[in-house]
Amino acid sequence: MNIAVPIDTTPGETRVPVSPETTKKLIDLGFSVTLQSGAGQPSQFSDEDYISAGAQIETDVARLYSDADVLIKINGPVAKHPATGQFEVDMVGDGKTWISFLAPAQNAELLETFNQKGMSAISLESIPRISRAQKMDILSSMANIAGYRAVIEAASNFGRFFTGQVTAAGKIPPAKVMVIGAGVAGLAAIGAAKSLGAIVRAFDTRLEVKEQVESMGGQFLTVEIEEDGAGTGGYAKEMSKEFIEAEMALFMEQAKEVDIIITTALIPGRPAPKLITEDMVKAMKPGSVIVDLAAPNGGNCECTVKDEVVVAHDVKVVGYTNIAARAANQASTLLSNNVFRLLEHLCEAKDGNLNFNIEDEITRGCTVTHEKEILWPPPPPKLSAAPKKPAAKQEAPVAEPKIKKAQPIALYWIITGALMLGLGQVAPADFMGHFTVFVLAIFVGWQVIWNVSHSLHTPLMSVTNAISGIVVVGSLLQVSGSGSTLVTVLAGIGILFATINIAGGFYVTRRMLNMFRREG
Ligand code: NAI
Repeated sequence: MNIAVPIDTTPGETRVPVSPETTKKLIDLGFSVTLQSGAGQPSQFSDEDYISAGAQIETDVARLYSDADVLIKINGPVAKHPATGQFEVDMVGDGKTWISFLAPAQNAELLETFNQKGMSAISLESIPRISRAQKMDILSSMANIAGYRAVIEAASNFGRFFTGQVTAAGKIPPAKVMVIGAGVAGLAAIGAAKSLGAIVRAFDTRLEVKEQVESMGGQFLTVEIEEDGAGTGGYAKEMSKEFIEAEMALFMEQAKEVDIIITTALIPGRPAPKLITEDMVKAMKPGSVIVDLAAPNGGNCECTVKDEVVVAHDVKVVGYTNIAARAANQASTLLSNNVFRLLEHLCEAKDGNLNFNIEDEITRGCTVTHEKEILWPPPPPKLSAAPKKPAAKQEAPVAEPKIKKAQPIALYWIITGALMLGLGQVAPADFMGHFTVFVLAIFVGWQVIWNVSHSLHTPLMSVTNAISGIVVVGSLLQVSGSGSTLVTVLAGIGILFATINIAGGFYVTRRMLNMFRREG
């Protein structure tokens, strides 16, 4: 099949869904790749880079589309292509495959068009957020860049440092940043703002993200109402009116204190909730900055204007809707890797053909039309990233309080010490030396192993090769030279077990590493 990649004519778009690196990989999968001349240029990929990777470069736009078996671009079809004046879908032949962002929930008519043309359409934003599909998760890749970039945009619009400093010229307090919505973009923003030295706070309706926020160095804000916003598939659900009111009261308090607000709150398929009112903007200090990442879905802030930086009540409000495109090379590299993984998934036979296995959760999730059938919406993903709720507490029978007996460890050591002293009177001097080392080894071994959490026993065992190696060397020295049958037998047993431990250690380590290794 021929994969065609045109220049994306949507204003502000700089990304390209196939990089020179993934071109090679797609050709290895059996596809041929044709790009419109200059398609990679905004991402610093030249036509020559693509040609060296094995792609063809096409200058005739109409031919590029008509020769495409699979057309891949970033944004959905435009009504009038600037080069041909035609509806972009009509430029591709009937029965072919279209891959791009399609916003299927908002574009029922477009799905109907694909269907009538017998085309298969894949919506890049509909790849389910399940662990198996992580390597194809374009939304997460782009949100990660957007979160990072939001902080950079905030920093460049903010008239002060993020980090606090004490200088000869005066003390600079650290900037205070509040991130609303700690999903992929929010967490990336927390990490970036923290690394610039700011004090970072974050709020999310899903309580499961508290630890993630804290692990990125942020402080998790809470409201007094108990309600968890975790929905299916790692996404949020809509909250009650009372909860939204409580969170907005919290934001009003925070608005008076913080310098930067980065908002990312979204529930998939819904317009972004308006969480930052004009009054809150008014309450912020002059020179503060709001970066509204939810701008593509209407914005979380009442003052946001799509694709513009506006000044409202002395606060700059950044409303870019394609912030990832402002980091074109990085975005294209990650995006094209995701697209390659998706095509690899759809081409299991590696024969250069797409195979739509609609039974598969990933293929089903992102395929919106296929074989004259509209497949949107897919069934909800089966897994949630939310930890399972503990089973309802059962009334436990009231037990007698147990008095914990003191462990007589000290007593054992006193007895051992007394025995050693007694033994020292009768035993030969070199025996006592060895015996002391033996007792200490038991003590140290006991303390070291016993205090290790059970879940870490396997990795611990797999790296005890050094100890086993010493045992093997010691046993080899003893096995033939001692003259005692007992010592020879014990040394033989020592060699056997230590060897099993070494070989087993390598085997277990290998299995553990394989669990983290990526295929391909
Ligand atoms: P996500 O679904 O992973 O995160 C959204 C977070 O908002 C979730 O953690 C959710 O629990 C939280 N949330 C929902 N309602 C909330 C509420 N009322 N209060 C507080 N938190 C709430 O989404 P992701 O991938 O992190 O994207 C975040 C936003 O960034 C989306 O709106 C997305 O469209 C946008 N985005 C914007 C870009 C741009 O160029 N402006 C680029 C990439 C993403």
